[in-house]
Amino acid sequence: MTIPNFITLPYVFERPTPPFEGNDIRYPESLVRYFMQNMSKPGQKVFDPFVGLGTTMFVAEELKRNPFGIEADRTRFEWVAGQLEHWMQVAHADAAKMPRLGLPKMDFCMTSPPFMAATDKWNPLFAGNPKHAGYAAYLKQMGRIFALVARTMKKGAPVVVQVDNVQGKTFTPLIRDLGNVISKSLKPAGETIVTWDGGTMEYAHTTCLIFKA
Ligand SMILES: C[S@@+](CC[C@H](N)C(=O)[O-])C[C@H]1O[C@@H](n2cnc3c(N)ncnc32)[C@H](O)[C@@H]1O
Repeated sequence: MTIPNFITLPYVFERPTPPFEGNDIRYPESLVRYFMQNMSKPGQKVFDPFVGLGTTMFVAEELKRNPFGIEADRTRFEWVAGQLEHWMQVAHADAAKMPRLGLPKMDFCMTSPPFMAATDKWNPLFAGNPKHAGYAAYLKQMGRIFALVARTMKKGAPVVVQVDNVQGKTFTPLIRDLGNVISKSLKPAGETIVTWDGGTMEYAHTTCLIFKA
C-alpha cells in the first residue's frame, strides 16, 4: 500500500458507548477499517497493546482477522472481552509484561497509546504510580513497550500508531516525541493526517504514524 499523506474519514462511533465512560479515548471504527483493510488480509493476526474500548479488536473480528490485545484497566478489559468471540486472546495486563503472555508473531498492529501532557506528573502507563511520575518516565516506558511490540511483529509487518498533540495550558508535541521513541525499535514508514468528516472545531483531525517491524 502507498501510504497517503491525507485522508478523510467519518467521525462516527458505530458501537454503543460503554455505560461507565464516554467515547473520549476511542477512535472511530472507520480509522481502523481503513488501515486494516489496506495493510492486512483475512485470517491474519492483528495486535493492539492498548486495547482501550476494543475498536481494533472489534473491527478485526468484523474483517475476519484474528485479534490479540492487552488492556491494563479491568473495567475496560471486561467490557471488551465480554463482547468478543476471541475473548481468550485479550489479556488484562500491563503491556510492558508482553513477553510473559506467550503471544504469537503478529501480521499487523494498530493502536492508540494513552496520551500525556509534558507538564503532567500522572503517568498513565503506571496508573499514576508516583514512583514513575512525569513525562520523561512516560516516554522511556513507551520506548520499552514499543521495543516489545517490535519483537512481537513478523519482519516487515506494519504498525499504525494513532496519536494527537496535547493542547493544554502548554503545548505538548506528542506526535514528535512518541515518533522519536518508537523509531528506536520500529522503522518509520510514513505519516497520514486524517481529517474527520463530522469532527468538531476542537477535534477536526488526527495523525497516524506508520512503522515497519
Ligand atoms: C487511548 S486508549 C485506547 C483506545 C482504543 N484505541 C479504542 O478505540 O478504544 C489507551 C488504553 O491504554 C490503556 N493502558 C494504559 N497503560 C497501559 C499499560 N501499561 N498496558 C496496557 N494498557 C494500558 C488505558 O487503560 C487505555 O484504555
